[in-house]
Amino acid sequence: MSEPDTRGTIFIDPILYADQEAWHAAAAELRDDAPVLRVEIDGYTPFWAVTRHEDVFAVSRDNEHFLNTRNSVLGPDAQFEFLKSIGIEGETLIHMDGDEHRDHRNVANDWFRPRAVAKRQVAIDAIADEFVEQFRQMDGTCDFAQDIAVPYTLRVIMGIFGIPQEDEPTMLKLTQGIFGAADPEYLGDLSDPMALLTDTIAQFDAYFDELTEDRRAHPTDDLATVIATSEVNGCPMDSNARLWYYTIVATAGHDTTSFALSGGLEALLRHPDQVALLQARPELVNNAVDEMIRWTSPVRHFLRYLTRPATLSGVEVPEGDRLLLSYPSANRDERMFDDPMTFDVARPNANRMIAFGGGEHFCLGSTFARRELRTILPKLLAAVDTVEVAGLPEWAQANFVGGVKHLPVSATFR
Ligand code: HEM
Repeated sequence: MSEPDTRGTIFIDPILYADQEAWHAAAAELRDDAPVLRVEIDGYTPFWAVTRHEDVFAVSRDNEHFLNTRNSVLGPDAQFEFLKSIGIEGETLIHMDGDEHRDHRNVANDWFRPRAVAKRQVAIDAIADEFVEQFRQMDGTCDFAQDIAVPYTLRVIMGIFGIPQEDEPTMLKLTQGIFGAADPEYLGDLSDPMALLTDTIAQFDAYFDELTEDRRAHPTDDLATVIATSEVNGCPMDSNARLWYYTIVATAGHDTTSFALSGGLEALLRHPDQVALLQARPELVNNAVDEMIRWTSPVRHFLRYLTRPATLSGVEVPEGDRLLLSYPSANRDERMFDDPMTFDVARPNANRMIAFGGGEHFCLGSTFARRELRTILPKLLAAVDTVEVAGLPEWAQANFVGGVKHLPVSATFR
């Protein structure tokens, strides 16, 4: 009997994601000889890991044959069973399909269209200026991830959400409790990741119930009011869907973007020639931002379920099985990107990166995310004379959303 193929553990074990070089080397091998790999690991319903750009792209765009369902994020079966047994079931946009998804997405869609996001530019500029100045005030030495990237991206998204500045630490803690549950740094006094997750969800629930009552009584022009008073098919949004709507905006809205910024800066600073190029040719900034997002791919995966059999890269996958779409792998696919392991702000097809997914679930906040990075990066590069990594960066242990969580940086300012 042949030995079971255990290479699929790279998609499960959070610790393996913390060593990016080793992780990408393993994914490159899979793209070559097992691009659609069946992964059977104790405690997990089997899945097929899809690692090539072409396949991730095709599956993402076909929302009829590949569904999200209520289980669209990978986790141990026992975790889902436990959460279900205590009445917790994810009901974000990510967990919906078809009409249900479209009707719910329409609730907030207008807030994320390019024109609406462009109107926020003045506010984003002011926040970016504040954080660049803060960096200067710290004598040019900081943990760029925690001191700048996290609070900057949090402040921007909380601004549209309508969450007051004094509640930002609460939002941050709650986000880390959901996305960072596997990273020991976020466990605090709690005994295990499951306790952290359930505790966090209960806190989100209480916070957002209060917010709903407040906005219904005192409507304002913020996104929280839209969600609190929203109707789907003529009825108020179901309370569970409402809780998860707030939750996805509060969480997906900043952790992802801050990881793209901190990890993107880490890559940039490792290449002083690229820093010089961007300083000399600021018009490259949009391309550079796409390259940062390609490079970091902060969302590690989502799942899709087959409504009928499909063939991907010559592999037949039966109806009902599930696929794991590996965005970090697809974004380093040598079939799509020349020399994919090189960080290149002038890469001609950086915008073909697939870090935001595709099809009907294409990231609602992609315009915001890009704009946030496009705003702060030139301000930072214009403000400094020299800037460099000043210690060992640390990557989060996370198999869902992750990236550089600590980045010591030092700079001299002009
Ligand atoms: C670099 C930053 C970001 C990355 C890499 C990212 C990535 C993703 C990915 C991969 C998806 C799933 C797409 C699919 O299934 O095809 C997604 C969906 C989503 N993202 Fe983002 N995201 C980022 C920033 C944001 C921001 C700033 C927001 C703002 C609130 C946001 C809100 C959402 C929402 C609400 C969805 C669900 C969309 C749906 O299912 O219809 N994301 N994102």
